[in-house]
Amino acid sequence: MKPRLQRRMPFLFVILSLFFALSSAKAGSNERVNSKQKPLGRGPISGESWGTTAHNDGSAGGNCNGESHRLGANLCTAILAVNEATALLHKTRPVSPPWWNFSKKSGVLGASAYYAKELFFLLFMNGPPQPELLTSNPQPKKLSQPLSQAVKLLEDAAAEKSPDAIFMLAEMNFYGNFTHPRNYSEAFRRYHELATLNGNASAQHMVGFMYATGIGGAVKPDQAKAMLYHTLAAEAGDIRSEMTVAYRHSAGIAAPRNCDESVYYYKSVADKAIAYMRSGPPGGHSMIKESYRIADEEGGVYGEGASASSAGPNAKQGNIHSDSFSSLDDVVEFMDLQARKGDPRASFNLAKLNYDGARSSKRDLPAAKKRFLELARMYWTKEGKVKPNVSKLTEKLAAKAAGYLGRMFLRGEGMPQSFTIAQTWFKRGIEIGDALSQYSLGIMYLNGLGVPKDPVRAAELFGAAADQDLAVAQVRLGALFLDQGDVTTAIKYFEIAARYGHLEAYYYLAELAHHGVGRDKSCSIASNYYKIVAEKAEIISTSFPEANEAYANGDLETALVRYMMAAEQGLEVGQANVAYLLDQAKPRFTLSSIIPFIRKKASLAGDAMMALIYWTRSAEQKNVDSMVKLGDYYLGGLGTSSNEEKAAACYQAAAETLQSAQAMWNLGWMHENGIGIEQDYHLAKRYYDQALETNPREAYLPVLLALYKLRFRSWWNDITHGKIKSIQDEPVVKKDWTFSEWIAAFLEAEIAAWDDLEPDDYDDTHMSGGESDYGLDDIDSDILESLAIVALTGALAFLLYYRNQRQRRQDEERRRQQLQQQPGQAPAPGAPQQQPPDQPQPQPQLPQEDRGMFPRPEDPEFMNWAAGAVGH
Ligand SMILES: *[C@@H]1O[C@H](CO)[C@@H](O)[C@H](O)[C@H]1NC(C)=O
Ligand SMILES: *[C@@H]1O[C@H](CO)[C@@H](O)[C@H](O)[C@H]1NC(C)=O
Ligand SMILES: *[C@@H]1O[C@H](CO)[C@@H](O)[C@H](O)[C@H]1NC(C)=O
Ligand SMILES: *[C@@H]1O[C@H](CO)[C@@H](O)[C@H](O)[C@H]1NC(C)=O
Ligand SMILES: *[C@@H]1O[C@H](CO)[C@@H](O)[C@H](O)[C@H]1NC(C)=O
Repeated sequence: MKPRLQRRMPFLFVILSLFFALSSAKAGSNERVNSKQKPLGRGPISGESWGTTAHNDGSAGGNCNGESHRLGANLCTAILAVNEATALLHKTRPVSPPWWNFSKKSGVLGASAYYAKELFFLLFMNGPPQPELLTSNPQPKKLSQPLSQAVKLLEDAAAEKSPDAIFMLAEMNFYGNFTHPRNYSEAFRRYHELATLNGNASAQHMVGFMYATGIGGAVKPDQAKAMLYHTLAAEAGDIRSEMTVAYRHSAGIAAPRNCDESVYYYKSVADKAIAYMRSGPPGGHSMIKESYRIADEEGGVYGEGASASSAGPNAKQGNIHSDSFSSLDDVVEFMDLQARKGDPRASFNLAKLNYDGARSSKRDLPAAKKRFLELARMYWTKEGKVKPNVSKLTEKLAAKAAGYLGRMFLRGEGMPQSFTIAQTWFKRGIEIGDALSQYSLGIMYLNGLGVPKDPVRAAELFGAAADQDLAVAQVRLGALFLDQGDVTTAIKYFEIAARYGHLEAYYYLAELAHHGVGRDKSCSIASNYYKIVAEKAEIISTSFPEANEAYANGDLETALVRYMMAAEQGLEVGQANVAYLLDQAKPRFTLSSIIPFIRKKASLAGDAMMALIYWTRSAEQKNVDSMVKLGDYYLGGLGTSSNEEKAAACYQAAAETLQSAQAMWNLGWMHENGIGIEQDYHLAKRYYDQALETNPREAYLPVLLALYKLRFRSWWNDITHGKIKSIQDEPVVKKDWTFSEWIAAFLEAEIAAWDDLEPDDYDDTHMSGGESDYGLDDIDSDILESLAIVALTGALAFLLYYRNQRQRRQDEERRRQQLQQQPGQAPAPGAPQQQPPDQPQPQPQLPQEDRGMFPRPEDPEFMNWAAGAVGH
């Protein structure tokens, strides 16, 4: 590759500096070391003994000891300083978690406690606002004593060009390790220094990342330089840079689309991923999924039902991993209750949840073992005898439990590894035909673990398990067929396993497509499959766990940076999360939208353009919700110039998947109002219908708060709908443009002969779509609007009532007066003083004054008023 020479320059430099250091070491005297040493080292490091006691703390201590005669004295001094600083730093543990430290819990109780806490902070402990992430630098902060001491040591060592010191300073400024305040400019300077000093790939990656994102305003974004540094780091084997470069080549970001380059780097990552997996216990390291779309907590970017991620086919995939994670605790609670009542299915699910772990619950192997064992004991006695009279269901689940128990013993998970015990359990499981037991015993035979190696027996066992649709077994069987040269059968098994998203299956398929074995060579297929493998191996290349934790703890800055790294590597989930965090157009009704303090934190990195970039990248990776968001950004001109046609195209693309109710709704609205696309009531109606169809009103998960929100909204719509109708009787409201629109649309509807049209149905769509906001999810503005309307209605009603009352009183009075005056003579116009004193004073100007808003029909004023009150 071209830049290779450039990459070697730093190495030349290092060698040169080493050479100089060496020669200076020869010349340098011990006294000089001593005199320089004193301020850095602490007491025990005396002139004569520093070489031997250098390993006092820190892992690199031995280095200096062993290489002191080889390395320059300055460098050695630096190493010592770094060790000392490390020791100091590790003493500056972050302050112990305060009493209010608890993360957002699920369930109504947990949530209210969480918000009570937030409210408490808002009211009484209104801390300083967090710094703006993408725009400004943090204020200088005073460092704690040991920290500033350590920083001083590191800075001195960095001045001596110690890579470790430079690296540490850079990390501390970037991540804020050891409570060091963040300073992205400083971090960039340090990373850059290290990258040019010795071509350190980690530093090059960071420089590339900062050039790509311009994070913290440390440096002006420069995609060409970003690409250069990432390529350098990738050549040196930095996994994150390899993924970044591969992604940029495959998506055509800052580089022409180039499938070969993309395959080259993705394959490199995939190879590492598979090597990592196979380096694990029998059966391989388990690749735990840590990447979640944070928007899914709320049912997707657009809320439950409106987002593609929780609508249509996705709504039905309600499993423990895709569930909104707040509901998991409730499910667990329910299952726990059932399990204690002796329901084996609940016990099994709980055990498996403990074993696999899920988003909100970590793996708990001891608990899993306990539950699996309880389940197995329902069927087998301690001696392995089968208990009489056990139900079929219990038998089946006990077999599965046996499989898991054996697996845990085989892999030494939560207990010491034991092939003998594992085999016992597998044999028990196989008696009842458990697939996991068959597969696992097959692994033992294949690799000769505690049994003699026997590939034929292994193949038999794999075959039995594969017939039961166990993906791992299918992959192993496929691999065996591949070894035999039966590529067609192998591919068949890999493809079946790939349906379950099995990592190794994709890897084999990618290899076959890459080399053109058994099928046509295809660069794009290979690239896509390698990408899947690389991205499934999150653990070796991404930092989702840290990001998720930071997000859960409310540390949005850390979360954003971490997600952004994943996003740069091309992981769609990371891109969606970054965009979601940066999204300014959040139309959701959350607490954060009414509590200013939280809002401040949430908008810390508000940058519509960045959000737009990541929405776009996420949308290009087939995220339907992001596609709709993209449309919103084009429609509203957020981070770009407003473009209605592009918006319509985005919505159309999203609606084609038949998943996004939001997109259909928007399309309906655009058709209705002729925005971006042709005005067409018929199509509008169709899109509205589709939106309703896609939007699953039926309860799909038991206790989803979001679902309540949805129901509440629809209920609220009905209520306000009724109110609005009643207001429409009033002439003032009748003049509202929506009404004329309504009439026009209704006439149009009749002309178009919409026989099936229900007025309610129509109104419903009209009311939500016809308002200036186009969102199905505009719950806050909807509610506010409705509230305003209700308030207005109330005020009007009161006015009416008041006026009527007053008018009736006055009418009565007048009538009484007239009655009294009729028998006698009419009073002279100019002589009111002749009236009897006991009568109330009549009001001469009464009729004029009282014409008011709503004169009664018998009132002579009525005609005047009805004519438009022109006469007055
Ligand atoms: C809160 O406490 C938990 C353990 O109790 C800890 O893991 C977590 O890091 C703490 N969070 C903060 C922000 O201190
Ligand atoms: C970069 O330098 C740091 C500090 O010396 C070191 O810990 C790290 O392993 C280096 N990275 C690579 C890829 O060599
Ligand atoms: C600093 O913290 C980050 C994340 O918290 C971690 O990945 C990194 O290794 C740390 N660096 C050092 C030098 O401790
Ligand atoms: C951050 O570092 C730069 C130099 O790298 C320095 O000029 C600036 O003052 C620092 N900012 C703060 C807030 O310490
Ligand atoms: C088996 O269980 C059924 C009910 O579950 C019971 O009627 C029957 O007596 C039991 N038989 C034995 C041998 O325990």
